[in-house]
Amino acid sequence: MSTPSRVALLACIALAACASQPPVKGKAPALGAPASPEEIARYDISIPPSGAGLPRGSGTARGGAKVYEQKCMACHGAKGAGKPADALAGRQGTLGSRTPQRTVGSYWPYATTLFDYVRRAMPITAPLSLSDDEVYAVSAYVLYLNGIIGEDAAMNAQSLPQVKMPNRDGFVSDWPPRAHN
Ligand code: HEC
Repeated sequence: MSTPSRVALLACIALAACASQPPVKGKAPALGAPASPEEIARYDISIPPSGAGLPRGSGTARGGAKVYEQKCMACHGAKGAGKPADALAGRQGTLGSRTPQRTVGSYWPYATTLFDYVRRAMPITAPLSLSDDEVYAVSAYVLYLNGIIGEDAAMNAQSLPQVKMPNRDGFVSDWPPRAHN
């Protein structure tokens, strides 16, 4: 047997030996460490459409304009017009046309998703870097750019779930699946 295949064979035997170690009764495998409540809270940040779990804090579009200019505009363009990244405003009414354009205003069914998404993912180069007040304010600004709320409407855990998005009723359930031709 050549040296490389002997090495490979020995490696297989060693692996098989490890795999067949019997588990120690009453002892959990030592994989990682228990997550602390603080660590769990840091990851447990999903906000459902109902807005359950929205944090304290508040912001208006007027305040959010500043956050937007400093932390979003380079990628999403002035007033959410887009370029180089996605447009965040306008294009309402295009969904049924030959060139549908999906923006927060034209497509997204829930304003609470905007808070969730911006908080967890934006700015794309520094996710989770915004304070909750900044997320409320910049979300308010994006809603304002879309003509959905006024410039001084405060967005917070109570008001954000009340915002009715233009495409709220544009989604239909396809379960159980219908026949498609
Ligand atoms: C460095 C560039 C960059 C910056 C800065 C940035 N974004 Fe984004 N953003 C992106 C990219 C790229 C995507 C698309 C991500 C994807 O599809 O996975 C995106 C997607 C989004 C979307 C979803 C758009 C859609 O309809 O799917 C929203 C909303 C958004 N960004 C908001 C913001 C806000 C608010 C800020 C400022 C706090 C911000 N972004 C800063 C690059 C950026």
